[in-house]
Amino acid sequence: MTQEKNVDPQLFTDVIEGFSQEQKSLPSKYFYDERGSELFELICQQEEYYPTDAEVEIIKNRIYEIVALLGDNVQLVELGSGSSMKTRMLLEHLNKLAGYVPVDISEEFLLTESEKLRNEYPDLTIEPVAADYTGSFEIPDNPDAKKTVIYFPGSTIGNLIPTEAKAFLKTVASMIDSGDGLLIGVDRKKDRKILEKAYNDKNGVTAEFNLNVLRRLNRELDAGFDLDNFSHKAIYNDDEGRVEMHLISRKDQEVRVGDRIFLLKKGETIHTENSYKYSTEEFSELASEYFDIEKTWVDHRHYFSVHYLSLKTDLTGF
Ligand code: AVI
Repeated sequence: MTQEKNVDPQLFTDVIEGFSQEQKSLPSKYFYDERGSELFELICQQEEYYPTDAEVEIIKNRIYEIVALLGDNVQLVELGSGSSMKTRMLLEHLNKLAGYVPVDISEEFLLTESEKLRNEYPDLTIEPVAADYTGSFEIPDNPDAKKTVIYFPGSTIGNLIPTEAKAFLKTVASMIDSGDGLLIGVDRKKDRKILEKAYNDKNGVTAEFNLNVLRRLNRELDAGFDLDNFSHKAIYNDDEGRVEMHLISRKDQEVRVGDRIFLLKKGETIHTENSYKYSTEEFSELASEYFDIEKTWVDHRHYFSVHYLSLKTDLTGF
C-alpha cells in the first residue's frame, strides 16, 4: 500500500509558479528543512564564508559601544532565534536587561534553544514567540522594559528583494514605539571574487545546500529531480548588487513535480537565492522611510556592517 503524503499546498503552488516563469526560480526559504539548516550551519564555518566571522568580530570588538548606545532595561527581541555567540555577548553585556524574546517559525527549535538559554541565564526573563517574523507578531508586554530593541543579525535581510526588505522594515517599525530601535547585520559590497568564493566554497558545502532544495522537493512533493543532472553556480550580479545562486541543468531534461512536467534545456538555470549587498548609504536609503541610522560599525576588512537604527520620531502609532 502506498503511503499518502502530507503535501504542503503552499510549497506546491510556489514551485509551480516559480517553474512557470521564463527564468525558473524557487523561493530561498525552502532551503531550510532539517538538512538544509544543518548545511547552513556548516556554511558558516567555511573559510570562504566571511559574514559570520566578520559580524562576530564587530560585536566582540564593539560590545561596550553597542551596549552604551542601546542603554539600560532593554527588551531584546531577536528575529530568527539565536543561541549564537553574538546573542550571548549581548545578553551578557546589556545592563539590567529587561527580557529576551527569541522569535522563530519553528516552535520545536525555539523551545529547545530557549531551554538551553534558561539553564545558562537563570535570572533572565525569556519569552519565546513562535511566529513568522517576516509578518507582524505581538511583542510580549514587559513592564520592566524602558525600550525595545529588535535584533536581526546575519544579513538575512539581504535574502529579500529591496521592495520586500522595505515592507519588512515597515512591519518592524509598526511593532515598536518612539525611542525603540533595530540592531541589524548587513553584508557590504566588495570585490566580486571574494563574494563568489563565499558562495562557492572549496568543500562544496554551499553546492550541497543549493542542491538539497531539489532533494526536499523529491521528498515532499514526490518530484522527480535527479540531482546528478544539476550543478551549483554562484555569481555576483553587479547591476542588481546581489549574489545569485542558481542550479544549472547539465542536459536537456524533463522534470516532474506532482502531475506537472517541466522542460529544462542544457545550461538553463533555476534561480534559487538572492543575497543583496549594501553600502551604508544604500542601506540608509532603503530604511529611510521608517528609520534613521544612529551608528554603523564595520569589521577590520570593511566586509560587513552592523547598524543601530532608531525609529523616526514622526512615525509612532501608524
Ligand atoms: C541566511 N543568508 C543571510 C545567507 C546569505 O549569505 O545570503 C544564506 C546563504 N546562502 C548561501 N550561503 C549562505
